[in-house]
Amino acid sequence: MAAKSSILTQSGTVRRAIVVGGGLGGLMTVIKLCEAGIPVDILSLVPVKRSHSACAQGGINASVNIKGEGDSPETHFFETVKGGDFLANQPPAKGMAYAAPGIVFMLDRMGVPFNRTPEGNLDFRRFGGTLFHRTAFAGATTGQQLLYALDEQVRRWETIDVEDDKGVTIPGEKMVRKFEYWDLASLVIDDEGVCRGVIGQDLKNGELRVFRGDAVCLATGGPGMVFGRSTNSVINTGSAAAIAYRQGATYANGEFIQVHPTAIPGTDKLRLISESVRGEGGRVWVPKDRNDKRPGAQIPEGERYYFLEERYPKYKNLVPRDIASREIFRTVVHEGFSAEGQRAAFLDVTHLCKTPSGKAAVRKKLEGVLEIYEKFAGQDPYDNPMKIFPAVHYSMGGLWCDFEKAEDGTLKAQSARNQATSIPGLYASGEVDYQYHGANRLGANSLLSCIYGGMVTGPAMAAWREGAAKSAFDYGSALFDKALAKAKAEHEAFASRTGSEFDVNPYQLHDELGDMMLNKVTVERHNAELDEVLGKIAEMKQRFKRAAALDRASGTMNQPVVFLRHLQGMLDLAHIITKGAREREECRGAHYKPVYDPELHPNDPKAVGRDDQNWLKTTLATYTPEGPALSYEPVDVSLLKLAVRDYGKVKKPAEAPKADANAR
Ligand code: FUM
Repeated sequence: MAAKSSILTQSGTVRRAIVVGGGLGGLMTVIKLCEAGIPVDILSLVPVKRSHSACAQGGINASVNIKGEGDSPETHFFETVKGGDFLANQPPAKGMAYAAPGIVFMLDRMGVPFNRTPEGNLDFRRFGGTLFHRTAFAGATTGQQLLYALDEQVRRWETIDVEDDKGVTIPGEKMVRKFEYWDLASLVIDDEGVCRGVIGQDLKNGELRVFRGDAVCLATGGPGMVFGRSTNSVINTGSAAAIAYRQGATYANGEFIQVHPTAIPGTDKLRLISESVRGEGGRVWVPKDRNDKRPGAQIPEGERYYFLEERYPKYKNLVPRDIASREIFRTVVHEGFSAEGQRAAFLDVTHLCKTPSGKAAVRKKLEGVLEIYEKFAGQDPYDNPMKIFPAVHYSMGGLWCDFEKAEDGTLKAQSARNQATSIPGLYASGEVDYQYHGANRLGANSLLSCIYGGMVTGPAMAAWREGAAKSAFDYGSALFDKALAKAKAEHEAFASRTGSEFDVNPYQLHDELGDMMLNKVTVERHNAELDEVLGKIAEMKQRFKRAAALDRASGTMNQPVVFLRHLQGMLDLAHIITKGAREREECRGAHYKPVYDPELHPNDPKAVGRDDQNWLKTTLATYTPEGPALSYEPVDVSLLKLAVRDYGKVKKPAEAPKADANAR
């Protein structure tokens, strides 16, 4: 047998690693694997340039301190941990914050068209949860620009020949082989529980196929579609994470779902209006008169209630997202304020656009996102305050990952443990992992964590491959044939659901699931409602058994059959999210139970808010046929002291939220 680190098997097959997912986390992992000399197969549901990273708008955090404000990576680290309500393991968060300036400089060298100051320096804007200008940006299409830059790097690797151990190029074999429009059907796991590859499905013709891999990375994004309507792309069902979970991977902190404060209210999708709008001076307000239904532009300054600025005079409109979303929600839903009589608040940049130069400056920095508002709301946001409401945006939870701490408190370089899931040989990178954000992510830390995660994952996979006793390419075909046969049988079982006994429309079932999750498991959570949701999920899982394959096509694209796989995953993830929320008896970051809010219940000793005594723990969910089994592990808080999570709120009695308040 060839040495395990050899690039070729004795029969001349190239030993590859696999990355599933073509967003920033996946592409960066591919680049790092290639730099380590390891050829890669990358599978992506969509053309990689259409991955959900393209939708990130406002920027990427890095404490470069270009404006001489005294910012530093240590402050970024602290604010990330505080923003996450102290639930993030501290070494990965520290590693990320310290790597951030180098990452932004690297992206700049790759050609990302970052905005610059008049002197030619990189420009940085403010984002939530900090008082520093820490966010590098390319207008308001930063994710797209970053994605395109990494895509170009990967394309370069697609042209580079694989070399054998003697440096001789192997005809026809390139470092990267890209498979676009491919879905993950299953992992291939051997008898010792080690991941040896994947079964992918070509969505153009339904073909199921084996991909062997000496290490596998899932970089498949978040599960926003579990909530039906969100800022996420429709591909973000969480299916790949759910498949890994069903095959034994631990899912962590599922209950921590970020609701972004500002999105366009809508019936199909909730389009994001970036936090960068507030970073550039946009203001959130409602008319002081609860009955005032006038368009925002007609409401005089003195009749406006800038509630975030009044309640948080220090951070104003840039408190962390969990707080901003709760405040907007409380103001509109519980206190009865509105925008034009609708369930919304105003987000306003018109005061910045009173002069031609002011308007030009806003355009230069925010055009990409203001265009989205104009297109989908049908109003010019330069002259009219925008109507916004919070929307599901991001999952802090995801596949559990390990890490190895270095002496300086960051991550040990090239440790095979970094980003390793609980299935040996399987890694996770990007939003699909749970690693960096604790209970709430700071805005503009997601592009950073995706890229940093990829920079850590590639070397970790290389180290795993080097240390593994056996290569996936040295197995006989039996393991892979069996996995392929199982995936084919599963596909067939879904495809043959055409009889009259299959009387459930899967798309309607998904709508029902999404509405319920959106209404009862987002900004405010009440145990009675969560119990009800858990009961409904169990019942929906039963109904799923009768969900029909609505299309009889075979040998070609059959979307409804693939959708059944994704819906099955969404039901599992909804179960994890809801059960985690039901069990966590505290308020922490994005997880908020009014019953534990000391502001609402000042005389109740049980209303302690964040409960570090009992709940400074990561939630771990493992699959059982009956539903997720939960356990907990302590958070690594070895580097920073736990502090009060104070953003300078001016205390004033709030009105108690009613149950079922999320409903919209
Ligand atoms: O608001 C935004 O631009 C989103 C950024 C993020 O989620 O990090």
